Amino acid sequence: MKTLVLSANHRDTAAIAAQIIRSSGLVAIPTETVYGLGANGLSDSAVAKIFIAKGRPQDNPLILHVADAGDIEKFCHSIPSAAYKLAEAFWPGPLTMVLPARDSVPKCTTAGLSTVAVRCPDNALTREIIRLSGVPIAAPSANISGKPSTTTAQHVLHDHDGKIDAIVDGGPCRVGVESTIVDLTEERPRLLRPGGITPEQLREILGDLVVDKAVTSQISKDEVVKAPGMKYRHYAPQSEIIIISGSREKAAAYIRRHISPEDRVLCFEEELALYENCRPLAYGRESQVDTLSAGLFAALRELDDPSVSRVYARCPEGGGVAYAVQNRLKKAAAFHIVDAEVAL
Ligand code: TXA
Ligand code: MG
Repeated sequence: MKTLVLSANHRDTAAIAAQIIRSSGLVAIPTETVYGLGANGLSDSAVAKIFIAKGRPQDNPLILHVADAGDIEKFCHSIPSAAYKLAEAFWPGPLTMVLPARDSVPKCTTAGLSTVAVRCPDNALTREIIRLSGVPIAAPSANISGKPSTTTAQHVLHDHDGKIDAIVDGGPCRVGVESTIVDLTEERPRLLRPGGITPEQLREILGDLVVDKAVTSQISKDEVVKAPGMKYRHYAPQSEIIIISGSREKAAAYIRRHISPEDRVLCFEEELALYENCRPLAYGRESQVDTLSAGLFAALRELDDPSVSRVYARCPEGGGVAYAVQNRLKKAAAFHIVDAEVAL
């Protein structure tokens, strides 16, 4: 199969992409978070192709992308007022809500759950594609399962050239980490995955928010978790990743003491000078956390090289979007963290 690359600037792109979705094909779509691998979310056979292309475990449900907040009523029932408030505050935007699913949503999309995840992405072209398709688009992040997410059309081509019908090239993704996921099906709202909408922003609207344990700790394969995707080791390059916490100077001293020639350092731009001769790769500025979230997955992809044996990584501290960066990096490191303030 030849994979079409459709430019966001071309006037026929939305119509062509929508036509492919309507005929049960696969189209990679740009969003503000990461590229998604999209298909008709109401068609079992179309959705099945996503699982095959990604090599995704069958028990991992997909997010339904809608063009307008009002559309959630077509796919969800028993919608609490909190959902409307969140949609009003953050949609279109990097927030996904888990709600009770209507029967119109096929089991293939929800992986057999009685709930469905819905999101209205902040990308006008992608919303136009959804509108023209006439169906919600089911889309996981467009990476091969287990690999770092795709934040450019080139990343998607790398993983899927010749295996999917088309890629809509909308340039690099602004946020760079996947959407925040909130489960609204229980008594208390629960954060299942941190992202561009921060816990602080959610609490302002919801008052209350429980943080699921899958956000803060490693979950074993057999554990039952709310977001099935959270138990898999994600975002992982082939090399081992170790996060080195502590002050800039102590971390640099620790890394310089332990590093081997096949290892690399993933750090902040402000730290590059400390790692001369250590093959450092900066993923953004520590003083500007949104550059770290935007650059993280591209950097993890660059480090996904069999010749790199270990990556010493620096992780931003604090809340806000840094919380999402910490979550992704800790998962990539399988929660292996060394505190340079105390380690020798
Ligand atoms: O930013 C994003 O959310 C991107 C873009 C493309 O929209 N999509 C994305 O999809 O990250 P994916 O499939 O890579 O991650 C979706 C996560 C998975 O961990 C999945 O288990 C969880 O959402 N999920 C989906 N439906 C769910 C449900 N009904 N209940 C709980 N978790 C759900
Ligand atoms: Mg994903």
